[in-house]
Amino acid sequence: MDELRLAGAKAAAIMADHLEGVGDRPVWRPVPDGDLAWLTGQELPETGRALDDLLEDARAHVLPYPMGNGHPRFFGWVNSPPNPAGVLVEPLAAALNPSVAGGDHAGPHLERTVVRWLAGLVGFPHPPGGGLLTSGASMATVICLATARQRAALAAGWDAREEGLAGRPPMVMYVTEEGHSCLHKAAQLLGLGARNVRTVPVDAAYRMDVGALRAMIAEDLDAGLRPFCVAGSAGTVNSGAVDPLDEIADVAGSYGLWFHVDGAYGALGVLADGAAPHYAGLERADSLALDPHKWLGVPVGCGCALLREPAAARAAFSLVPSYLIDDNADDLGWFAEYGPEQTRPFRALKTWATLSYLGRTGVKRLVDHTTGLARTLAAMVEQAPDFELLAPVTTSITAFRHIPRPDGLDALNRAIPGAVQARGNVFFTGTRLGGHEALRACFLHPDTTERDLAILLDEIRVAAKSL
Ligand SMILES: Cc1ncc(COP(=O)(O)O)c(C=O)c1O
Repeated sequence: MDELRLAGAKAAAIMADHLEGVGDRPVWRPVPDGDLAWLTGQELPETGRALDDLLEDARAHVLPYPMGNGHPRFFGWVNSPPNPAGVLVEPLAAALNPSVAGGDHAGPHLERTVVRWLAGLVGFPHPPGGGLLTSGASMATVICLATARQRAALAAGWDAREEGLAGRPPMVMYVTEEGHSCLHKAAQLLGLGARNVRTVPVDAAYRMDVGALRAMIAEDLDAGLRPFCVAGSAGTVNSGAVDPLDEIADVAGSYGLWFHVDGAYGALGVLADGAAPHYAGLERADSLALDPHKWLGVPVGCGCALLREPAAARAAFSLVPSYLIDDNADDLGWFAEYGPEQTRPFRALKTWATLSYLGRTGVKRLVDHTTGLARTLAAMVEQAPDFELLAPVTTSITAFRHIPRPDGLDALNRAIPGAVQARGNVFFTGTRLGGHEALRACFLHPDTTERDLAILLDEIRVAAKSL
């Protein structure tokens, strides 16, 4: 253990140096050939190596090549910097190394608390056992949609787990074109068929057109199909739009559909000053995906599936073989009965640490700060003749494009993110929005400043001149 003690102290110093200096280094840079060869071409050592050597290798070949999301000028996709408290306790979770499938040890008990905290933060109902931590929102979505599928099948008089879906009317799900790809992947994985995922049109603010939703459901019912789920978004990845959740809940309620909300990124946005009206109806959902590893900054990966009726998830997943029967389990049973994972990592510790370190006010401060940055960038874009705002700002994402000339704007805007990334001063990514190639910046970093926003626009101008 002396070796671990010494190397551990050194690892802590390396970690702190890395995090302290992150803003002084390029946001991102390509891995040069020499280090690439080291990363990809190593042979498994014949005999084990010393801990200190491993740290030196990590310092030399790994830490210099981050994805970039620790940097205050990383605005790509939806990737946050790690919260220091989360970083701190990751080794403790590894030292304990439990499987949080269930049982009477710290992991499952702490996970119950963390899930309750997350539900409470966003105002989602929390019955005992009403959720579980996952690898991310993709897995949370699989859990929620599998639960919805089984509930719909049971309500129609058959058991989808036992019989599968063959020979039954197709189950139909409704998502806007702004809905995240994980909703489609989950539907495909669950055997629903991509063709049975309807694309509901959006309004000018990229929010679900609820009149169109209603008409599509009616048409599918007339055609003998089985509408079973509508998935709204609380913070789309393209523009941060929040669907009209209250109206969607009304429609879902009137047709008896499962109402799922993808709040992976944006659910916490409800905490921002003045944002609550946009989120009205979130609390009416049957399930909510919310990723602690996004806005909160819990080190990757930690998602969360919140469930209004936990028993429905248990009905969709519970399968307890004789070697896993726990006579001492409480009424809720094991977490492994509510999802596909059996061995489950101790995700709750880093989430507990992050939430405790921030406190409710710290979470709100982070959300207010980053939504404020998105609004400020939108105002800067609107004032600049060579930029155009493409969507209203609801959360912490600003969608816009560069319009320095009349033609070739799609090709230009498509090329800009890569050209800016290569310069190393700012990292952001593009998308397609409303038929345009678009630029988007997502703010999640507590240390990003308004000065960084000016640098972003300048970097775009400079990069565009070279294209
Ligand atoms: C809105 C939204 N939903 C779902 C996901 C998928 O989450 P994960 O990558 O944690 O599986 C993302 C990821 O960025 C997202 O932004």
